[in-house]
Amino acid sequence: MSSNPGQTPLSTEASAGPGKAELATFNPFDPEVQAQPWEYNDRLVAEAPVHREANTGLILVSSHAHVSEVLSDHETFSNRFMLMMGGGKKAKVPDAVAEVMKEGFPPVDTMLTADPPEQRRFRSLVNKGFSLRRVSALAPRIEALATELIDGFARDGRAELRSQFAVPLPLTVISEQLGVAREDLALFKKWSDGFVAQLSGMASPEEQVKAWKLIVEFQKYFEKVLKDRAENPRQDILSAVVNARVEGERPLDMAECLSILQQLLVAGNETTASAICEGIYLLLENPDELARLRAEPELIPNAVEEVLRMATPTANMWRVCVKDTELGGVEIAAGSAMLVRFSAANRDPVIFPNPHRFDVGRENANEHLALGAGVHFCLGAQLARLEMAQSFGALLERLPNLRKAPDSPPPAYPPNILLRGMTELPIEFDPA
Ligand code: HEM
Repeated sequence: MSSNPGQTPLSTEASAGPGKAELATFNPFDPEVQAQPWEYNDRLVAEAPVHREANTGLILVSSHAHVSEVLSDHETFSNRFMLMMGGGKKAKVPDAVAEVMKEGFPPVDTMLTADPPEQRRFRSLVNKGFSLRRVSALAPRIEALATELIDGFARDGRAELRSQFAVPLPLTVISEQLGVAREDLALFKKWSDGFVAQLSGMASPEEQVKAWKLIVEFQKYFEKVLKDRAENPRQDILSAVVNARVEGERPLDMAECLSILQQLLVAGNETTASAICEGIYLLLENPDELARLRAEPELIPNAVEEVLRMATPTANMWRVCVKDTELGGVEIAAGSAMLVRFSAANRDPVIFPNPHRFDVGRENANEHLALGAGVHFCLGAQLARLEMAQSFGALLERLPNLRKAPDSPPPAYPPNILLRGMTELPIEFDPA
């Protein structure tokens, strides 16, 4: 397995426990392991559900039970992981990156990167925008958008699903919710890619400079829009954020507003696009399941859960242990960096029999942890589920004889320690 020179500096207590030597041949930063983590995940779940990774000292948490335990204990396992991400004060930020960062607002911890009570305070400001009632009301808009996107390629008999459908659908939905002009969508995608690169944990200093330039561009754009919304509020999430008062007192400052928007932008796009592509890919790889879903469309909501379980677009997430503790028999010192492996937990055979089988009728598919659990449970869960269900419904209905493009290579996954999603999915179908 190759090593990764750009990996995050972590605890120095690296040591593989007795009997774990073979696990040390895997490296979670290896792009091949990230693309196809299944063998490693199976081994971790079976042999070392809580594991001190030999190369980095990272604590990997993999079984469904242990991942659930970590997610439910935010007092021990903190989300203040920005310090490890090259964004915080204590991280070793390359000089060239620091220069670019100086031009923008400093990274601050809001929802995903904060702990209660601060996290709750920030989250309550945007919660309303993502309530079940508000999200359900978006159904007709999402349906119209899906129809419009499919109209764009239905006569061609072929499409590249990611760029022609899976990316623009959630991107348009979230930018409309944020009240951003449609002509600025391309900028949105570019900025989202910048954030994803910064989050990847795999970026070289040059790539980090590029990513931060995009982030600063995003900040400047939204600084202007937010100032406008402060004076001319509309019925959109931007106005709600900029005019909110923290505990009835002070308004959010610009860095906090930008951090919230950044999280909505990235979380709302990349993950949902990956889930839509992986879902269609799984259906094409499993023609019986595809036929079953066509025959029983009422199974679509369950299929969405099964796709989330199998795909797990947020494959991993960071935590920092903030108290000396023990988990699964492993001593963990305060300050240790941890990687919660959602993709492993979602194929834990204790919870999901025959876990690598894609089964749209799986009875307990919704026990997956692909959307997290506990205080950080995905804010956009209802929106993501609705977008996926409507996408699968529309694509199956409108594209007869849907199939993989012949001779298309297996999907490629760009290196990213947190997010896993295929770069493209060429499909064919009978032209309408
Ligand atoms: C299939 C699509 C999605 C997946 C797989 C996904 C996954 C996740 C996961 C695993 C977490 C928990 C992270 C943790 O425990 O540290 C999370 C949190 C979050 N998600 Fe999603 N997400 C998706 C879609 C969305 C959408 C559409 C939005 C909003 C537009 C969104 C916004 C957020 C936010 C803001 C958080 C942080 C919440 C907090 O810390 O309080 N996500 N998501």
